[in-house]
Amino acid sequence: MKKLIAGNWKMNGNRTMVRTLISEVVNALDAEQRILDRADIAVFPPALYLSDVRHTLYGFPVISFGMQDISEYEDGAYTGDISASMAADAACTYVILGHSERRQYHGETNEKVKLKAELLLAEDITPIICVGETESEREMGNALKVVGEQLESCIPVIKNNYRDIVVAYEPVWAIGTGKTALPEDIRVMHQFIREKLEDKVPDASKVRILYGGSMKPENAAEILHIQNVDGGLIGGASLKTDTFLAIAREA
Ligand code: PGA
Repeated sequence: MKKLIAGNWKMNGNRTMVRTLISEVVNALDAEQRILDRADIAVFPPALYLSDVRHTLYGFPVISFGMQDISEYEDGAYTGDISASMAADAACTYVILGHSERRQYHGETNEKVKLKAELLLAEDITPIICVGETESEREMGNALKVVGEQLESCIPVIKNNYRDIVVAYEPVWAIGTGKTALPEDIRVMHQFIREKLEDKVPDASKVRILYGGSMKPENAAEILHIQNVDGGLIGGASLKTDTFLAIAREA
């Protein structure tokens, strides 16, 4: 399966920085197109700058883009929210859902993630559903249990026809900390996620399962070659063209 290398820019930068970064990524990939044979590339700028990214990508549509969240409501009086249909209107291919920072700071629940995923699927947008345990949950030996419960309540029920979804395993303690999960723990978790998906979606073997949490050029090769790791969700290292592409090169 072709890997997906996704850059989550979070709430970083400004318009100038976003324009510079996306232009650099385009120029570098244009010069090194073989990366695109092995990996799909997607970027997730702050929503206000989506139109800048989209504008640059008109000329290089092989890079996809998306939002870092959407509303659980369809439309109406929800000040500050952006709907799934607006994300479709803005030509998003993907939307990240249930990121641990949304769960921690914005009260995102599994139930909301599932609702949002259903709204996105109705718009033909691929949700990237994030799951992952905290450090204390791992220390207590509950990592699989926690992630299993998240999947159980976050994954929309998809019957009959396969619909594209992506799952990102992001151990909360590894995000932005420089710590990464051990390769064997990643292998076990990704295998577990694959098996869980088998009960939920028609063709679980087609679902890409990304790893996220302090991925960088130095650990990318090892992580991306673990069985059932189908790409990466990259935060800090996606804010620099060199490090982002150095990771993509390992796909
Ligand atoms: P990080 O973030 O690569 O900076 O650890 C990953 C993420 O939050 O998606």
